[in-house]
Amino acid sequence: MSARPRPASTRLPARSDSPFRRLARPWLSPRVFDFWASRLHPTWSWERPLARIVERRAESADAVTLVLRPNRHWHGCRPGQHLNVSAEIDGCRVTRSYSPTGLPGRDRRVAITVKAVDGGKLSRHLCERAKVGDVLDLGPAFGDMQLDENAAAPRLFLAAGSGITPLIALTRALAARGMPAPLSLLYWARKREQLCFVDELRSYAAAHPRFQLRFLLTGEAADAADEGQGRIDAAQLATIADLADREVYACGPGGFVDEARALLAARTVSFQAEAFSPPPRTQEDLDGTVEITLAASARTVTVARGQSLLGALEAQGLKLASGCRMGICNTCACGKRSGSTRHLHTGDAQHEPVSALRLCVNSATSDLVLDL
Ligand code: FES
Repeated sequence: MSARPRPASTRLPARSDSPFRRLARPWLSPRVFDFWASRLHPTWSWERPLARIVERRAESADAVTLVLRPNRHWHGCRPGQHLNVSAEIDGCRVTRSYSPTGLPGRDRRVAITVKAVDGGKLSRHLCERAKVGDVLDLGPAFGDMQLDENAAAPRLFLAAGSGITPLIALTRALAARGMPAPLSLLYWARKREQLCFVDELRSYAAAHPRFQLRFLLTGEAADAADEGQGRIDAAQLATIADLADREVYACGPGGFVDEARALLAARTVSFQAEAFSPPPRTQEDLDGTVEITLAASARTVTVARGQSLLGALEAQGLKLASGCRMGICNTCACGKRSGSTRHLHTGDAQHEPVSALRLCVNSATSDLVLDL
């Protein structure tokens, strides 16, 4: 996804084990400890990172911001990273990835902004039912969309829909340093009421001459001076000064990121992107079916060629671990014993017989045998 070298590690270092846990470990089961500890305090646990919702507020017509107070087992996050959030819904644990919009400061609180997605189990739960006091599981931070906040390179941020979440965290970090380099943010939404952080972004634009802001609406007419209309195209990008010198960070749905990549990747200093969903598949990819043998459970299923393996196997009734569903968190990684796959974002074919693959961003192009 990235045109730049990735950092050696995208996870923050874990703290060392506490003396209490070292002494108690031979005698006490963490599950038993968690059961009784949670009776005393909702986020006390042996080692599970848990967080209590301490505040919720509407962020747009279809998004809420939840402020969470994690327990001591959660080790923090950098701007632009993601974390897995899990909740128990109708007796099932559901996990999805969110990019924190508010990063831990002295109060160690972290905020996530969640848009209610059609058919989204966890997003609907968090937007419509989760309340102050509820406890969520948190995963460790992961993700490569990070930048050197002190570097002087001019940057261009492109956000569509929920793609604003890692980019607002990065924008806040840069604003806190007085915008050390020129930054342009183009932010697309269908309607004005779906835009998040509008007042805050406008206040940065008013305070920092190096920060240029443009809201782009695809479903209604532009109104304000900092608004425009229409999907991403060359004409909009041509308004960005020094485009060839920019480091570009794009985040949004697969089709948006693909278009941004096609327009910019070869013309700018670097291009980093994160896409929520795989890009549209070609007819060739969609033709026919393949057989997937699940070696560990001695089962064979037939799925349509070209679907993400995660979606295809879930449609067969399999309960599989997943988080971001966009190829970043590694939660859905599994071993492949034979067969060929195609990466849904890059189109790269993978014929190595024995390898690991991420089910959410790969489809089968031949019969497969998986370690499931
Ligand atoms: S669910 Fe995160 S990499 Fe597949």
